[in-house]
Amino acid sequence: MPTTGWFETVAEAQRRAAKRLPRSVYSALIAGSERGTTVEDNLAAFAELGFAPHVAGLSSKRDQSTTILGQPISLPVFISPTGVQAVHPDGEVAVARAAAARGTAMSLSSFASKPIEEVAAANPQTFFQMYWSGGRDKMVARMERARAAGAVGLIMTSDWSFSNGRDWGSPKIPEKMDLKAMLRFAPEGLARPRWLLEFAKTGKVPDLTAPNLAEGRDPAPTFFGAYGEWMQTPLPTWDDVAWLRERWNGPFLLKGVMRVDDAKRAVDAGVTAISVSNHGGNNLDGTPASIRALPAIAEAVGQQIEIVLDGGIRRGSDVIKAVALGARAVMIGRAYLWGLAAGGQAGVENVLDVLRGGIDSALLGLGLSSVHDLTIDSVIIPAGFRRDLGT
Ligand SMILES: Cc1cc2nc3c(=O)[nH]c(=O)nc-3n(C[C@H](O)[C@H](O)[C@H](O)COP(=O)(O)O)c2cc1C
Repeated sequence: MPTTGWFETVAEAQRRAAKRLPRSVYSALIAGSERGTTVEDNLAAFAELGFAPHVAGLSSKRDQSTTILGQPISLPVFISPTGVQAVHPDGEVAVARAAAARGTAMSLSSFASKPIEEVAAANPQTFFQMYWSGGRDKMVARMERARAAGAVGLIMTSDWSFSNGRDWGSPKIPEKMDLKAMLRFAPEGLARPRWLLEFAKTGKVPDLTAPNLAEGRDPAPTFFGAYGEWMQTPLPTWDDVAWLRERWNGPFLLKGVMRVDDAKRAVDAGVTAISVSNHGGNNLDGTPASIRALPAIAEAVGQQIEIVLDGGIRRGSDVIKAVALGARAVMIGRAYLWGLAAGGQAGVENVLDVLRGGIDSALLGLGLSSVHDLTIDSVIIPAGFRRDLGT
């Protein structure tokens, strides 16, 4: 089977990523935590939802466009923030370009491998994501740098409980790519010659730093140095959320909400949007799939703020299901990471095209002409599917 060129599903992109990436890079993207219950449920839950298609009287024109945080997007899908160190030498810049080419927005993680200046230049619809890390002065400096670079929205991610074990084992990621680390990883790299060649062409090795967390002109901290700072920062209160939102004074999304009571507090803190998310199953294992928590949250606060869902989106019909259950749009994580690994910018464009095609087919089958016509009655929801948390 050819491993370059167009792929028809995200599953195929993932197979190519598995073949192409060194083992530890691939397993860093698989991620998950503890037993892997949440990461599995994020996928399983979408399979429990179904459709009842029509056979005639269908719509020949189908519109996918919407807006998120004030940005018009051509489909209800945009890029979720991830640190994509070592997946591809163009990293988040390739992802941002692909999103721009397909008419959608980019979110850049503060742990990302490329500076916000390069990413926002590649996609003017870029949101910058921050954790509560390093104290207020540092956070303001990072936020102002992102604003100056052209970021048009801020994402605060606050669902992280520093879990550090996986029953299937975690990849051993070096503190930095020095000679010792390179020698240790050489066998893995040599087993993946195409990945190695992509990096060799740039003359650089993956540097495993977080350039968006650099202070002034200081060199960028290492990924683990930045993680250590985050672990030592006192945890945010709801007042801190409100403070960050006020300080940004622009479109603001709180990422990681799974409970109705938290969603209401987010409204009180003045956010523009929330993402119903369990961090792709990488946070507290045993948290249900985000799609199960979505309906109750949408019913409670959907009239007041924008609601986004992320976690487990692998096909266009998943997007349709999430929009039907109350999301305005979805964010994707692993889906585009597999695309990036499989084919760089073109691979991410391919993933967005796969999703767009799937959204279109589902709208066609459902006899709808726009994603805005989707309602909770557009999908079959089995008894016991929902998890109404914090009601
Ligand atoms: C490898 C990896 C790194 C991630 N890094 C971040 C991050 O830096 N900031 C953040 O808010 N979320 C991060 N996430 C979570 C994603 O933004 C998103 O919530 C999740 O991937 C969605 O689930 P999906 O991968 O099933 O689409 C990361 C996820 C993965 C898989």
